[in-house]
Formats: sequence, C-alpha cells, structure tokens
Amino acid sequence: MAQLALRGGRPVRNRPFTAWPIYDGREARGLQTVLESRNWGGYPCPNDFAREFGRKFAEAHNARYGVAVANGTVSLELALQAAGIGFGDEVIVPAYTWEGTAAAVLFAGAAPVFVDVDPDTYCLDAKLIEATITERTRAIIPVHLGFRFADMDAIMEIAARHRLFVLEDCAHAHGGKWRGKGAGSIGHAGSFSFQTSKLMTAGEGGIVITSDIDLADQVIRLANCGRPPRKETKGNPALGHNYRMTEFQAVILLAQLERLDEQTELREGATARLEEGLKQIGGVGLLPRDNRITRQASYHYVFKFHSEEFGGVHRDAFVAALKAEGVPSDGRFYEAVYRSSLFEFAAEKYPAWAQSKREFHCPAAERAGYEESVWLPHQIFLGEERDVDDTLTAIQKIKENVAELIGHEDERIRTQGLPRAERALLESKPPYQ
Ligand SMILES: Cc1ncc(COP(=O)(O)O)c(C=O)c1O
Repeated sequence: MAQLALRGGRPVRNRPFTAWPIYDGREARGLQTVLESRNWGGYPCPNDFAREFGRKFAEAHNARYGVAVANGTVSLELALQAAGIGFGDEVIVPAYTWEGTAAAVLFAGAAPVFVDVDPDTYCLDAKLIEATITERTRAIIPVHLGFRFADMDAIMEIAARHRLFVLEDCAHAHGGKWRGKGAGSIGHAGSFSFQTSKLMTAGEGGIVITSDIDLADQVIRLANCGRPPRKETKGNPALGHNYRMTEFQAVILLAQLERLDEQTELREGATARLEEGLKQIGGVGLLPRDNRITRQASYHYVFKFHSEEFGGVHRDAFVAALKAEGVPSDGRFYEAVYRSSLFEFAAEKYPAWAQSKREFHCPAAERAGYEESVWLPHQIFLGEERDVDDTLTAIQKIKENVAELIGHEDERIRTQGLPRAERALLESKPPYQ
C-alpha cells in the first residue's frame, strides 16, 4: 500500500497552516475611520495616513524618509528615476529574482544587466559584479531574497569605488537587519512591496525609504504627476504618473507594522527549529547563516534539494509530494529572469535594452530555479511548533518512501515544473464571464 499522499497514502497534515494575512480590530477600525473621513485617496501626496506610515516604516528600518506608493514594482522604478537613471544606462540586477526587479529597470528607461547569484545565499554574487561594470553602469539592485541578505559590505564598497547608486530590493525583507541596520537603509535607497503574500500587506502597496531628502522629494514628485512636494524641492521638473498610495492601504499598513517585530521573532525561532530538524534528516542543503544578518526576515525559508539523496527524482516531484502531504511549498518559485516567459517583451520598445548586452548565462540562478531550490512560505512559521514538526515529518516521510516517486510522472508533478505564469493560468478564473 502506498505511503506517500501523492500516491494515495494518508497525508501528514490535513489542518491548514496560519491563515495570511493576519488582521484584527486595528485594521477594521482604521478602515472605518478612513471610510467615514471621506478622505480616501492618495492626494494630497502624501496624504495623512500615508505620511504617518512613511515616517514610522522608515524609522523602523533606520532611514529618515519613507514615501508610500502603489506597489513594489513602481517603488523600484521611482527610486531609479529619482536617482536620475534612465535611457542609455545599465543597472546590475541578480539573475534570480522576481521578474519585476528587472522590469522596473526597463520601465525607468535603462537596461538590466543580469549577474549570477551566490550559491550560499541565492542573492546577487558580489564577486561577479565588477566584471560586468561598463561606462554605462549607473546602479546596482541587490535583492535580499527569501531569508538572506546580499553581501551589502562588499556591494557598498564596489559602489563607492565606481560611484554607483545602490537600491536595495527589500520585497522579502521587512524588519530584517544587517549589522543592526534595517533593510533598505544600507544602500542609498530601499524598496519594499506590500503585495498580499509579503511580510506586511495591504493587498497591494510599496514604499521607497532613504535618508536623502532630495531623493525622497523627487520620488514624491514622480509618484504625484510631477508635482514638487515643497517650494524648495531640488531636482528637475518631471512628468510623473499617479503612483500614490490610498489612505485605505496606509491605515492597514500602520496596523500591520505594529505586529512586525513580534512576527519576525516568531519566524526566526521557528526557522531555527526547522533548520535543526533538516540537519537531522539530511539529504538537503542549507543556506549557511551569516552573522552579519542580525535580524532575519523570513519571507520564505529556502533550502536546496539534492536529487541524488532522493533516488534521483527531480525537485518538482519532491515539491508535488510535499504539497500532497499538506505542506505549502514551491520549487520553480523564481527562475533565471532572462529565461522566464514573463520577461518576454518587444525589445524595440526598450531602446536601452536593444543597445546592451543581452546574452546571459548564470548557472547558479538556473540551478536554483530549475533544479535545486525549495521555498517554504512564512505562514508555516507563524503558528505552533507542531507546524514546523509536521513539515519535517513530511520531508522525512518523502525521503523514506521516495521509491514511490521514481519512474512515475503524473499530472501534479508535471504542473509543478511549469513556469509560475502558466501555473497561475491553469488555476485562474476566466477574466470575463
Ligand atoms: C523581489 C521582488 N521585487 C519586487 C517585487 C514587486 O512588488 P509588487 O508585486 O508589489 O509590485 C516583488 C513582489 O513580488 C518581489 O518579490
């Protein structure tokens, strides 16, 4: 009789994990307050709650200013544009990240140059940056991926030597600290996303934090149709979009921020427990700890699947089996961006791209994306110890019964191997009824 749930056995877990997002009366009261105020939108920019949230979020991350905006893609685009980056410029981005990191560079008018990731962190490999710097290079976007940080010491040193702007993409790093400094305050600016899955959320939303007042002013101007925020605003006139955050979003985020420290601690403890258990099970690779990460933000816990330790089955079969055991997980969560179906576009619409180097081969990113990485979402780490223990039991069970996966290709395994965009299409409702 089959043991693995994927083959008809009993799943390790039938109960759901902690539901996300978490909310309570604070969000409800805030929403009611905004509703009754009739002051719903993002204008004047920043509006009252957006201003308060920007200040508090920046302070929590050791930066002076925070400009709340519509989402975490436009926050990247705005920060680049505010720094004067545009047509003809090149921006270094990691090859392994959400497609939006690189798309924001194109939207700003510049060209992304993909650099491989460090296999120990899955974040931008600082050792490979200098070889890709040209006379057009203007900025670096390190992404603090999953639960690790890019090596900010090395990146800031390279940036200082080449006079490059450093924009930290902290979409996964709310509350994280590097040598005691908040994510996003180590570089010249930091960008965060508040999309539903993130560690703080208003459904959608984003923010740019910085300690440079001129940069902050320019971000506001660009997010507010070009209007300068103060009479004495420096910088060039600019035609801007409307990328403002609404008061509904801001008031929710003020409540979410109040829970961030407590949740960060909870997740830190639970991921440490998971790590101990994974060491005992063996057969998977752990991303080594770095003492310079003084507070770990765990958007996902990520480990390496070693196929040879699991009878040669593919990572996607392991993930399908883990999901069937009742543990939310993903393998092809991100892929090498330059190979992704979501990163296909008409090159002639982006002249800076058409002019730049466009052949990339980043083996660590490709290995992570297509063969090796397993991503466990942070909801697993917000509940009881039993949640972590069930996750470990499921992994151990798959290891012991892996023979049941060998030689069987089924629909659920094949689906895991599809790019996320295609998987989402399979699961989505029709856009019009
Ligand atoms: C690394 C990274 N950068 C940028 C973004 C873009 O954020 P948003 O979805 O809010 O536009 C995301 C969100 O998925 C992300 O994970």
